[in-house]
Amino acid sequence: MTHKGNILYVLLGTCLTMMFSCQQPGGNTTGSEYMPDMAHSVAYEANTYGYYYNNRWGTEDELHKMVQPRKPINGSIARGATGGSVGFTSSMSQQGISYQANGAKPYYYADTEDERIRATNEIINNPYPITEAGLAKGKNLYNIYCGICHGEKGDGGGYLVRDNGGKYPVQPANFMTDEFVAASNGRFYHGIIYGRNLMSGYSDKLSYEERWQVIHYIRSLQAESKKLVYSEKANTLNSIDKPASLIKLEAAATVSVDTTKVETIN
Ligand code: HEC
Repeated sequence: MTHKGNILYVLLGTCLTMMFSCQQPGGNTTGSEYMPDMAHSVAYEANTYGYYYNNRWGTEDELHKMVQPRKPINGSIARGATGGSVGFTSSMSQQGISYQANGAKPYYYADTEDERIRATNEIINNPYPITEAGLAKGKNLYNIYCGICHGEKGDGGGYLVRDNGGKYPVQPANFMTDEFVAASNGRFYHGIIYGRNLMSGYSDKLSYEERWQVIHYIRSLQAESKKLVYSEKANTLNSIDKPASLIKLEAAATVSVDTTKVETIN
């Protein structure tokens, strides 16, 4: 081995020793590294706690706090929440009744008496028009989830309160009373989400659309008890809920108005 070669080996050895003699992480030390630039992110990483002593952006406590999962900001909509939409006519699908693929939908009223009143006053429209298919779906779900207490006719006489001396300790609401016929859709929706007193909520059993179809079905029971009509073709029970066939007519009317406009301009 030449003299020159020896020097090279010594230099190489020194370099390697320097690199590997860096302090290894472990115990209470993060270790020290040779040229750590960019090996660690100095940015805050969502949901990742990676405090690095060369990170000069904040204290360890601050960083720890920043990476904790937090509640979504009120009013924000989760990614995908606007993914689905149903349309019954072309104009309906443009209005886009959107819901999450799993049937969830954010609900911005709390489970308190004040909020129940607010929901009752503010939620007026059923976002779904009345359709035969929706009523059939609503009937099925109502009989499974609600009829056992509220009665298949909606009169509060379900078999849990009626049969065997009435096993259920309190009287479920009678939807046929004038109070519930006049009640807004919001009162029903809020009731489904949270329940009330001894009734528990059904938001985990019924998807967004299912809740509204159940409410349509309750309306149809109310109409039946008053010998009124509540169907895809007509609604003589109230002026809020829209029969699907009438929406189609309205949409058609809008289109013809548009045509006139175009002709006038020409
Ligand atoms: C286990 C029995 C039971 C079942 C099942 C049940 N409820 Fe109830 N529900 C009650 C009782 C009891 C009340 C009366 C609560 C009170 O006012 O104290 C009530 C009240 C209500 C009210 C009135 C709330 C208000 O604002 O006064 C609505 C609306 C309602 N239920 C809807 C439903 C719907 C829709 C379903 C099915 C998805 C359902 N309930 C299933 C027992 C039940």
